[in-house]
Amino acid sequence: MCAQRLAWAITGSGHYLRESLAILQTLQDVDIYLSRAAAEIIRQYGFQAQLDATGHKVYQDKTASSVPVERFYEGVYHTLVISPATSNTIAKMAYGFSDSLVTNLFAQAGKTRVDSIVFACDTAPELESEAPRDHMVKVFPRQIDLENVSRLKLFADTAVVENMTDLQSAIMQRLVSLHDLSLHAGVQVTNHLID
Ligand SMILES: Cc1cc2nc3c(=O)[nH]c(=O)nc-3n(C[C@H](O)[C@H](O)[C@H](O)COP(=O)(O)O)c2cc1C
Repeated sequence: MCAQRLAWAITGSGHYLRESLAILQTLQDVDIYLSRAAAEIIRQYGFQAQLDATGHKVYQDKTASSVPVERFYEGVYHTLVISPATSNTIAKMAYGFSDSLVTNLFAQAGKTRVDSIVFACDTAPELESEAPRDHMVKVFPRQIDLENVSRLKLFADTAVVENMTDLQSAIMQRLVSLHDLSLHAGVQVTNHLID
């Protein structure tokens, strides 16, 4: 279990992109996956240096079949984090689409019973959101956007978090529980050897 990694997908959202990149800098054993829109938005916001500073390998959405998702079937990942997740990606995931790298990661994580943690941009009917060039804008997510987030909350093995503090603690809880599991497995092996 210890050798497994965390997959972190970023979609084309300016909302909490800066903060997601900051959390990524604090984590180890992570692979980053970018949607096509995320690759553009990161350039638009001037966050390439922050992405590079994470030190993680970055996979881009370049293939029709989302080739890198085969890594879920090789047992490479213990957890998928999607943050920030756009209204677009949330809508597709909530209705079972897997026609892009990030929606495919979510689908294949589900099909291999790997836990997902999702921070959806549309958390409330009214939000303050970061726009390019360091200014804030008001955003009013539509009813359909909020409904899609609620629908995603019903998915198995999926935690939908509302803010960055909850995202950070959900990731930490997951890492601690995996660590405890591997310790427990180690103790069982040791007991078996003693027996
Ligand atoms: C500057 C900029 C900021 C954006 N921020 C958001 C955002 O915060 N939330 C969102 O849902 N979409 C946002 N979008 C729109 C998405 O990038 C767009 O819907 C895209 O198709 C999403 O693709 P993806 O879900 O595959 O990443 C933004 C677009 C631009 C140009």
